Amino acid sequence: MKKISIIGAGNTGATAAHWLAERELADVVLLDVVEGMPQGKSLDMLEAMPIIGKDTHVIGTNDYADTKNSDIIIITAGIARKPGMSRDDLLKTNADIVGKAAMETLKHSPNAIFIVLTNPLDTMAYLTMKMTKLPRERVIGQAGILDSARMRAFVAMETGVSVENINCYVLGGHGDEMVPLTRHSNIAGIPLKEYLPADKLEAIVNRTRKGGGEIVNLLKTGSAYYAPSMACVQMAEAILKDKKLIVPCATMMQGEYGLNDMYFGVPVVLGAGGMERVVEYKFDADEKAMFEKSAASVKETHEALKGLVTF
Ligand code: NAI
Ligand code: 2OP
Repeated sequence: MKKISIIGAGNTGATAAHWLAERELADVVLLDVVEGMPQGKSLDMLEAMPIIGKDTHVIGTNDYADTKNSDIIIITAGIARKPGMSRDDLLKTNADIVGKAAMETLKHSPNAIFIVLTNPLDTMAYLTMKMTKLPRERVIGQAGILDSARMRAFVAMETGVSVENINCYVLGGHGDEMVPLTRHSNIAGIPLKEYLPADKLEAIVNRTRKGGGEIVNLLKTGSAYYAPSMACVQMAEAILKDKKLIVPCATMMQGEYGLNDMYFGVPVVLGAGGMERVVEYKFDADEKAMFEKSAASVKETHEALKGLVTF
């Protein structure tokens, strides 16, 4: 069985462990700084396995040695947004936590592929790559699958059509300037722009951009975790099964879309090598403008990070 270690056993980490265990995709190690909590959650999950007939091993720990020889590391450790907080408010605290998690896990799993979830997402993925000095193929940020899934869910609510027929592509940074591509998104091949009236489509685009905040405002004590953790699991599955799945993920830009030295959400091919290839869409002038605005916002957070951390 393959091995996945999840750093941070809070809402997203524990829920990712739950989805992984249920799918028998890999044995799971759940690590947190809080003593007893990851052990308790893991034991509880392990005790559910006989009921669903799965032989997944799930262990909880506070010791990085237990993550040894992981195939994939999912980093969710950090603090989550509270009402009124932007993702960037989390920068300093989470940079310290993610930097340590990345270096400790790398020591024990030198061949692992890293999936980063902690916010501010694009910058935490950038930090992980810079600190570990791994090739970009092995450090991937999760945001676009979640943002696209939110848009798909909103389109399904509006149209009554199965989510399976709805394809949406949200690119760019994981912030309010994200780029929902209405021209490329479609229902069973029909562009959303043709299927939905402009006002309905605009409302969906706006709700998607604020999708994370909508959940924060409802929960009041934390942020979304069911859909974000499922998105990480889809990435892990594509890597473990070498699926060559094209999904939007945050990756290090090396000239694609005219961007360099930054993490940004673009369509990529996920397979056994991790982020195997960036897929380039052709943009019209409006899409290009949205993309550039989002890139400028992510760059700003990257620059703020460089003032706080030496790589
Ligand atoms: P949470 O607060 O439920 O869990 C975070 C866990 O990290 C806690 O259990 C905490 O004890 C642990 N932790 C803190 N410092 C640690 C350290 N040094 N080593 C190991 N564990 C440590 O938060 P939640 O909801 O799981 O969110 C985690 C992060 O993911 C947040 O930064 C959140 O903003 C981000 N997030 C990102 C999403 C995305 O799409 N990229 C979506 C959802 C959440
Ligand atoms: C979300 O989009 C908080 O980034 C997180 O739900």
